[in-house]
Amino acid sequence: MVICESLTVPKENANGILSYLLKCDMVRKDLKINNDPENVHIPLKRAVAIEGASNGKLNFHRRNLQVPPVERVNLNLKKMGIKSKFPEKFIKLGDSLFIKESRMPIFPREVYSMAAEEFQASSIYLDRGIGESPIREPDVVLLWGEGGTTVHEENGIFYSFDPTKVMFSPGNVNARIRESRETLDNMTVVDMFAGIGYFSLQVAKGSQGGKVYACELNPNSYSYLVKNIEKNRLGKSIVPLPGDCRLSTAGVSADYILMGHFDSLNFLSAALRMSHKGTLINMHILCDTSSLNTHWQKIQEKASHLGYLIDFKNQNVVKSYGPHLWHVSTKMVVSRTL
Ligand SMILES: C[S@@+](CC[C@H](N)C(=O)[O-])C[C@H]1O[C@@H](n2cnc3c(N)ncnc32)[C@H](O)[C@@H]1O
Repeated sequence: MVICESLTVPKENANGILSYLLKCDMVRKDLKINNDPENVHIPLKRAVAIEGASNGKLNFHRRNLQVPPVERVNLNLKKMGIKSKFPEKFIKLGDSLFIKESRMPIFPREVYSMAAEEFQASSIYLDRGIGESPIREPDVVLLWGEGGTTVHEENGIFYSFDPTKVMFSPGNVNARIRESRETLDNMTVVDMFAGIGYFSLQVAKGSQGGKVYACELNPNSYSYLVKNIEKNRLGKSIVPLPGDCRLSTAGVSADYILMGHFDSLNFLSAALRMSHKGTLINMHILCDTSSLNTHWQKIQEKASHLGYLIDFKNQNVVKSYGPHLWHVSTKMVVSRTL
């Protein structure tokens, strides 16, 4: 217990006064607030007079405050006599830590092992982005640790992958979760750009009685796709198809088509070929702010040149992709086929 300045506030006024005090940075967050049947006792950094509340000194229990790992790393750096700070922005997938190369100062090796311990990470990677090739290979370099396969759990699905060989976009989390909520029972789904199963695994987990054909061109991604189907016990509902989706889907008739590639417009004819009246097509597209509400007209025009009619259904912004640039997922429905 610790004795400290306190403010005793009648319960009915407590929320408003507490939020005001928090805003003014007056509350001791390392101590627990006390309650009795009528009043709330707030531990304060210094005495403050507020109408309807009374000041005093009271005993408070300590709160078990967790210091965030980045702060612990920076405290250690100070003790080691190192002036540079560890980047505040990072991504943790499984037990791997990813830091953008532009943010990472050059540290002596012992700093990485100390940081790995604080973050409970087995590997630290420098993230230099994603390459321009159609198979979207990452430019990720192992900085510290053993590397190899990392396993990231998201929305009840285990994604295993080698971050130096295949991409994983944490910013697409909402798009992945949305796929698990689609009502696709007994439907045939084609994921034309499945990668390691980003969408396919969520779709299969969220629906019953259907089939998901998961196409993947990059052999590294394909081998993780197969592993992930097994790991998540979804072998009954997902059929992995290696190679180019334009060829591997021959003969498939789809109720729902996922096109998780920014070049998806160039694959529209392949998608339409496996569609029927009512097929839903979900295209992931990069689009600038000025065309956010009109860009699908280009998709409609292209479809109509190919002899199909498609209608706009809805659209979600997945994430910002740069200044005035958006990653959107646009759903269209096929209303007439050849
Ligand atoms: C951008 S990634 C998928 C990203 C994913 N939608 C997400 O949420 O992070 C696209 C995948 O499509 C694969 N790909 C590219 N062209 C392909 C093709 N013609 N047929 C099948 N897969 C292809 C790439 O290898 C890559 O794994």
